[in-house]
Amino acid sequence: MPVIAVIGAQWGDEGKGKIVDLLAEKAGMVVRFSGGDNAGHTVINPSGEFKLHLIPSGIFYPNTVCLIGNGVVINPAVLLGEIDQLNQCGVDTSKLFISDRAHLIMPYHTLLDRLEEESRAGKAIGTTRKGIGPAFADKVARLGIRAGDLLDKETFLERLRSILEHKNTILTKIYGASPLSMDEVYARYCQYGERLAAHIRETDIMVEEALNRDELVILEGAQGTLLDPDFGTYPYTTSSSPLAGGGCLGAGVSPTKINRILGVFKAYCTRVGSGPMPTELKDETGDLIRERGHEYGTTTGRPRRCGWFDTVVARLSTRINGFTGVAITRLDVLDALPRLKICIGYKLKGKTVDYFPSSVTTLEKCQPIYEELEGWQTPISDIRQYEQLPLQARQYIARLEELTACPVNLISVGARREQTITRHDIL
Ligand code: IMP
Repeated sequence: MPVIAVIGAQWGDEGKGKIVDLLAEKAGMVVRFSGGDNAGHTVINPSGEFKLHLIPSGIFYPNTVCLIGNGVVINPAVLLGEIDQLNQCGVDTSKLFISDRAHLIMPYHTLLDRLEEESRAGKAIGTTRKGIGPAFADKVARLGIRAGDLLDKETFLERLRSILEHKNTILTKIYGASPLSMDEVYARYCQYGERLAAHIRETDIMVEEALNRDELVILEGAQGTLLDPDFGTYPYTTSSSPLAGGGCLGAGVSPTKINRILGVFKAYCTRVGSGPMPTELKDETGDLIRERGHEYGTTTGRPRRCGWFDTVVARLSTRINGFTGVAITRLDVLDALPRLKICIGYKLKGKTVDYFPSSVTTLEKCQPIYEELEGWQTPISDIRQYEQLPLQARQYIARLEELTACPVNLISVGARREQTITRHDIL
């Protein structure tokens, strides 16, 4: 059985949760490998409607083991809240495990995320303010506290003491904020540790064991390729890698073990937060897409910026992730539009550009070049066979396939599991 990585191919919110929920039926294991509770994966299935921020979208299958890998930063309060909420809905979380190597979001991370954003004034990144950037910064600065540290209260106390002293200096001397109480933070995190202890494991070994048992393992990406700190619209990015390569690092899986890399694209583009988005529509078409697609952030409720499908973005995503196939989500949102546009390149200083520039200053000057297609203007959410889609919808999909040079495996035409068209099997 293979390893399938499910990767956000645009700016996040592509609908990875639904796709993972769908594929997880056959999976022995689902592993979240990056980000933190900045993610919001919506899953609608017979158990109800859920917005998962940390727990993998495979949790609804009683036999599927769900792992939060070493590459995720965990806010224990959020995780425990999510576990409680699922349990209240009758969802079993006894097969949920978190990596002992996963870093924890501490109270100073969320505080600093807000203070840093406020100090950026007009240049704010528009973060989710969940403490993600400060937590990943501490990880690489070797100032982090990991889930495994909670299992040894003495070592945790020692580590927290020196780190908190340093953080309190920053909070008070740089931002004029109040210091955090050592006793309070320690007591609170010890309680979290007690509740989470049964879930904390060496998850990379569990992945190896699952592969040895020949089980299907799904690596569940968070955010999207264009939010990657290297290949995204830096500095308007997140702080961990949402790429397929990030899946290897964040789950502890060798690149040679990944057999399929499924890129998840919306049938159009959206983005939350600041930073350039060449095909953004600041007009009634953008508003129509937002309202039809309920394009408001799952984590923050912020309205998402909406625009046309961008194949320059798609080619970058396909290349650096090595997609073996693609899922196109929310095709039904376009049902109401008489004409559709696809961006096929950018105009920059009179020249045509077919690659995604690394500099946001350059990207801001790029004007999209569009190709127009006819819309289908009929509801498609009840269609389950590709051949039954209206001709214009098939032409749209075929054109995306051609421009991105990647086969479309799945087409999602609604939020529910069954509202999915399988064009080519993934496995
Ligand atoms: P952070 O990850 O909270 O630091 O936010 C950095 C940037 O990534 C901001 O523009 C956020 O809006 C964006 N971002 C983070 N997580 C998500 C997500 O799950 N979906 C879409 N955008 C996200």
